[in-house]
Parts: sequence; structure tokens; C-alpha cells
Amino acid sequence: MLYAVLGAIAAIYLLRRLQIRLRLSRAKHPSLRGHAKLSRRMARLVPFYEYPASELFRVDNAPADIAAARQQGFERLAQYFRDSAPRTLALSEQLEDGIPDVQFTNAYRVPFQFSRYVRQHMKTGLLAQASSGTRLQDLDGNWSYDLTGAYGVNLYGYDFYKDCIDKGAELVKALGPVLGPYHPVILDNVQRIKALSGMDEVSFHMSGTEAVMQAVRLACYHTDKSRVVVFCGAYHGWWDGVQPGPGNQRRVNDVYTLNEMSENTLHVLRTRKDIACVLVNPLQALNPNGGANSDSLLLASDRTADYDRKAYTVWLQKLRQVCTERHIVLIFDEVFLGFRLARGGAQEYFGVAADMVTYGKTLGGGLPVGVVAGKRHLMQRFKPHKPTAVCFARGTFNSHPYVMGAMNAFLQALDEPAWKMDFEAVDALWNTRAEHMNEQLRLADLPLAVANMSSIWTLLYTRPSRYNWMLQYYLRAQGLTLAWIGTGRFIFSHNYTDSDFEAVMERIVAAGQAMQADGWWWHDGQLTNKEIKRRVSRELLETALPWLRLKDRTLRHGAGHTPE
Ligand SMILES: Cc1ncc(COP(=O)(O)O)c(C=O)c1O
Repeated sequence: MLYAVLGAIAAIYLLRRLQIRLRLSRAKHPSLRGHAKLSRRMARLVPFYEYPASELFRVDNAPADIAAARQQGFERLAQYFRDSAPRTLALSEQLEDGIPDVQFTNAYRVPFQFSRYVRQHMKTGLLAQASSGTRLQDLDGNWSYDLTGAYGVNLYGYDFYKDCIDKGAELVKALGPVLGPYHPVILDNVQRIKALSGMDEVSFHMSGTEAVMQAVRLACYHTDKSRVVVFCGAYHGWWDGVQPGPGNQRRVNDVYTLNEMSENTLHVLRTRKDIACVLVNPLQALNPNGGANSDSLLLASDRTADYDRKAYTVWLQKLRQVCTERHIVLIFDEVFLGFRLARGGAQEYFGVAADMVTYGKTLGGGLPVGVVAGKRHLMQRFKPHKPTAVCFARGTFNSHPYVMGAMNAFLQALDEPAWKMDFEAVDALWNTRAEHMNEQLRLADLPLAVANMSSIWTLLYTRPSRYNWMLQYYLRAQGLTLAWIGTGRFIFSHNYTDSDFEAVMERIVAAGQAMQADGWWWHDGQLTNKEIKRRVSRELLETALPWLRLKDRTLRHGAGHTPE
């Protein structure tokens, strides 16, 4: 009898655990991205292979004349870069021999199957010597429009930040780089950030990644819970603790990567007892559950983006409600978008208040920074009634006087008539510009479209193709500077005038037309994105399991062969 009762209790317990686990599984995004552990394991299994030069221009089975036109186009562009920017290219090449970040970004500009050939034959410049207005100048004196936005830092134009840095340096120069004692300008910064964020306290860090680390640590400390929820595809910096998937070798077991805009996720938040905080990167509204769009992932033409402000607002409201009910700390990570959408950031733009907000990038007035703003009860780093249970956070360069000075110039400018923005008008302006761009792309009959969230854009490809990643080189040749993720993200600074924008639009259309003329978007009338994915999967399988390989295929396998 006793055994039967114990057995029944154990069975109920196990069933309950199973139910909880199933609920969590249902709240994951069905894609591989939604399964961090699995995708980390899978990433290790993907073998290297590449297309040999003889096939590189016709992996879509294009006829010989199209392949020849593509190759000529490729060589013409490479020659153009060599001729127009010899000094920039020569020094850029030297950078590779000592900066792993350069090696990494160069390797991942295009899908890995094409990467080595492209890297060897198409050199692009990585250095600039001046900026002015919306443009950058390379070492050979060429000016180009900047679509990188300095990873999001550049909101008002580079000249604005030069000014912030100068003003800030002037303000603090008597103190110099003293750390420990604060420069008094910090008080004004704290007051201003509190007013902008609606929070009670502020802490300063050296980068956005560190701000996120601190916010998460504080949330766990004050809730006495250890689990962190991030949403599928969302970037929160490169700390292991919010990056459980590929790119991080450590086993991170306390992060749940859940499906954004999903009732199943709300259900998990409502029913689990172990969740300390939920991190939201509002940029995900442009592409919920999608990762950062990068040209290295452009195997086909299935890049997506679909920004729906209303739907995302409703989602954030629901999230707010469940977090309040369950005492889960809601953290808005505004490192990227802060100050771009509204003066009070995403909180104001979507009308939803967070418990903590992280900022960075533009808030430093051009210098490196990370900031956490939060409610008083969440920001404290010790508990008076538990003197040894502290929440430790330091950082040698936190509150550096020069950063505080530049930040102060930035924050003061927000109130100056010259820099005050009517954000609804800004939103409307960039939406109109995006519509205009799409109209031009349609008129030019190009298989391209843009999607945008205010001044953050991504380029979409509307016809199945293996070669969309080539567009980044045509754009560069038109005098447009892109970040290493290529056409995945264009970040416009808000000093783009209509004529600057017209110039960029004309160049995008011209780049597309040149790419079209060189045959890259040739289509046999049958190829679908699904078919492309199927072929790539087969190639991966044949490389991993060579005995499956078909006789007529000539892929290059493994990393050990001699580069051409
Ligand atoms: C939303 C978000 N959080 C955090 C970070 C990390 O900031 P940092 O690169 O300054 O460490 C980034 C950087 O792009 C970001 O976009």
C-alpha cells in the first residue's frame, strides 16, 4: 500500500515536471535559432566546403554566357576597387595580419561556400581618414555615403559627435583621466538620464554588453531567481550569459530563448517560478524572432522583415502585464535603439514602461559607454539586512571623465532647438523614404525591396537567387559604405537631407541595375528558395558523409586544401 502511494506521488511529480518541460518547449520558436543548445551542437557539425572557381559563377546551373558575364562583372568590380583605392586596399590587407576581428568579418561577408574566392579576388577597403555630413573619406580621397551608422552610434551625424567630444574634453580637461573621484558633470548626466528614462537610479559602464550584464545580475540578485528570458534572434551583446547559442562555447543553462509575440511564452512566464528577468531588444520589432540579417546568410532570397508597430505595442503591453503579475523584471535593452525612436526611447515610443533600461552607443556622445537605468529597489548593490550578500559590479573605466563630458554634451543637445526632433515626423519621414525607395526599385524592375523601422533598414530580395550577396560590392562601387553584414542593415543618421537621400537611392538603383546587367539575377523560371535550401542541405550532407556523394559533383571539402 505504502509503495503504491509513493509510486503514485512520484508519478504525479514526474508528470507535473514533464508538463512544465513541455510548456517550455512549446514556448520556443520552432526554428533552429529558437533552440540554442541544439543549434550550438549543430553549428559544430556543419562541415566546410566551397565551390571551385569553375562552378562559382554558375551554382544555379546558369548557362555559360551568363556565368561569363557574371565573372566579367566580378573582375570589373575588383579592378575598379584596385584602381580607385590602391592605398586604402593595401593598408586594409595589412590589417588582416594581426587583427582577428578583421579576419572574422572578412570571412563572413558572403556565404562561406563562396567566401574564400571572393576574399582572394575582391579586395575592399576597411579604412577611412575623414567624415563629414553623411559621408566618409577613404585614404585615397574618395567620399562615400555612410550606411553603417557606426553600428547605431551615429544618430545626429558625425560632426555632431565630434562637437560633443570637443565640448566634453574642454569641460573635464582640468581633471583629466582621473578615475575614482568623479567629475561633477556626472550629477547632471544622472539627473538627465533619470528624467529621460523615468527611472530612479543610473549606473555607468564601458559598453552596452556590460550594461546588459549588470542589469541581468541585478535582476537575479533582487528577485533571488536565476533564469533569464531572451527572445529568439535578439542580440544583447556578446556576453555568454545572454548568448546561449552558436558563438559561445560555454554551456549556459540559465537562459531560456523563447518565441517572441507568442501566447505560449506568456504562459511560461505566468506559470514558472524561476524567471528573474525578461530582456527585450525593441529592434526585434522589425523582424520578430529573426536574427540579425547578414549577407553571409544570404544563401537564398528568403530574408524577412515585417515591422508592425501596433502588433509589437500590444505584445509589449502583454509582456508588461505578466511581468508585473509575476514580479519578473522587465528590461528594455535600448543600447541600439535608445534615442532613435523617441526622446524617451522605446518606452515612450511603444508607451510601455520597463523596470530597467540599458543604453549605450549614441549616449556616449561618440565615446564608448554602457548605462543601466532602473527602479531604486532593483539598482541597489547591497542589502542592509544581509551585509555579506552583495551584488558586485565594478569596471575601471566606468564614469570616465571624458565620457561623462561627451555624454553631457549629447544630453544637453537633446534640449537644444537645433537638435530637438519631432519623432513622429521622423518616423513618417523615413517611412515615406522607404516607400519612395520601393517605388523606384519597382520602376527599375529590380528584385529588391526595403523594409524599415524608422531609419533602420534592411534590404529584401524578391526573386530566388544564389547571388544576392554580390549586391554589397555593386553598392560599394557606387560609393556607399556598408557594415560588414552588407545589405542586412542600413543605418541612416538623421542628418540625411532629402538630397543626400535621393543620392543614396539613385546609387542603390544604379547598383541593382549593374548587377542585373551582369546576369547575377538570371533565373531559369523554376528555382525556388526551397530548392536552393534543399541543394545546400544536400551539399552539406555529402560533405559530412562523403559516401553519399554523387560522382559528378566537384565541391571542395575540408579546410586543409591549398587556396588558389
Ligand atoms: C541591443 C544591444 N544590446 C547590447 C549591445 C552590446 O553593446 P556593445 O557593443 O557596446 O557592447 C548591442 C550592440 O550592438 C545591442 O545592439
